[in-house]
Amino acid sequence: MTEFRAYRLFQGSGDAPQGRFVTMRTDELPAGEVLVRSEYAGVNFKDALAAHGINKIIRQYPRIGGIEFSGVVAQSADARFGVGARVIVHGFGAGVDHDGGFAQYARVPADWVLPLPEGIGAREASTIGVAGYTAALCIHLMELNGLTPEAGPVLVDGATGGVGSLAIDMLSGRGYRVTAVTGKEAERDYLLRLGAGEVLLRDGLEMGKRPLEKALWAGAIDSAGGEMLAWLTRTMQPNGVIAAVGNAAGMELNTSVLPFILRGIRLLGIVANSPMPLRRTIWGKLAGELRPRHLEAIADEIRLDGLPAAFARLLRGGARGRTIVKLQD
Ligand SMILES: NC(=O)c1ccc[n+]([C@@H]2O[C@H](COP(=O)([O-])OP(=O)(O)OC[C@H]3O[C@@H](n4cnc5c(N)ncnc54)[C@H](OP(=O)(O)O)[C@@H]3O)[C@@H](O)[C@H]2O)c1
Repeated sequence: MTEFRAYRLFQGSGDAPQGRFVTMRTDELPAGEVLVRSEYAGVNFKDALAAHGINKIIRQYPRIGGIEFSGVVAQSADARFGVGARVIVHGFGAGVDHDGGFAQYARVPADWVLPLPEGIGAREASTIGVAGYTAALCIHLMELNGLTPEAGPVLVDGATGGVGSLAIDMLSGRGYRVTAVTGKEAERDYLLRLGAGEVLLRDGLEMGKRPLEKALWAGAIDSAGGEMLAWLTRTMQPNGVIAAVGNAAGMELNTSVLPFILRGIRLLGIVANSPMPLRRTIWGKLAGELRPRHLEAIADEIRLDGLPAAFARLLRGGARGRTIVKLQD
């Protein structure tokens, strides 16, 4: 039994839970075959929603949030994982209905645990994290649907966010021409440094209203949803592929069938909480052909005590790249 520090959410008086920094013992963690001494956790939009009680992501308290973490196996009752193995856990129930990553230790079912690919350390893995996994999954699925660098430009919106930053990095590294769409004029240089060929300001987009507008994009990775996604459907080139990732701007999608039946556009739904065989494929790519090149520019490292401020920043759309929590001294 070991003592450790955690940021734990407790039932609040209204919808929002109350977060507290606490000392816990490993025997207070939930059941699972693998105990991980966590080195880094990534902070995601979903964690911010959960910590503020938005969308009822966590339904039972107390709970340690954090949908992803990486570190070293400290104890294992499963033959697949020896003590000392370097691993990452993201999704499944972590940080939602099972204690997650915002703590120095986590105990999880062995089926949730993925060995880190050769050559990838915990800090790099957590900087990639769910956002980088999602961006790589988008590229993988878009290419399975015919996207190639020669097909034309690929638009990435929510460009300064975690998914957007990593998508720009990976796409440009693969030879795609990337148009970044952002709400943050001040981050133009950051986006160019990641590999964007062009940066457009969200407020300056001429969206039009016709069911089919000028065909511009061969591909698009959309973190926004709402009007942005609707506009993308109207401006894709014939056979263009959209990966629908998020709803930072809205949940609705008001468009028509014309882009689908006249231009043959493809709209792919992206779910990062994928089955383990797909995770192995995508992490293999993340360690190889899609390995991000600008992780130092993308990573913003904090300590556990920086979490409340990080959640607030994410909720007001102020993210730049990835926030990672260094968990050990
Ligand atoms: N489907 C899945 O499995 C999956 C996986 C991961 C993430 N997601 C979702 O995907 C989205 C992006 O994730 P993330 O990790 O990149 O989040 P993030 O780091 O919080 O970034 C979101 C970005 O969206 C942009 N944005 C904010 N408000 C907006 C608005 N009103 N209209 C358009 N863009 C807006 C901002 O970038 P700019 O200022 O540069 O525009 C912001 O930095 C989130 O909604 C997240 O929940 C889904």
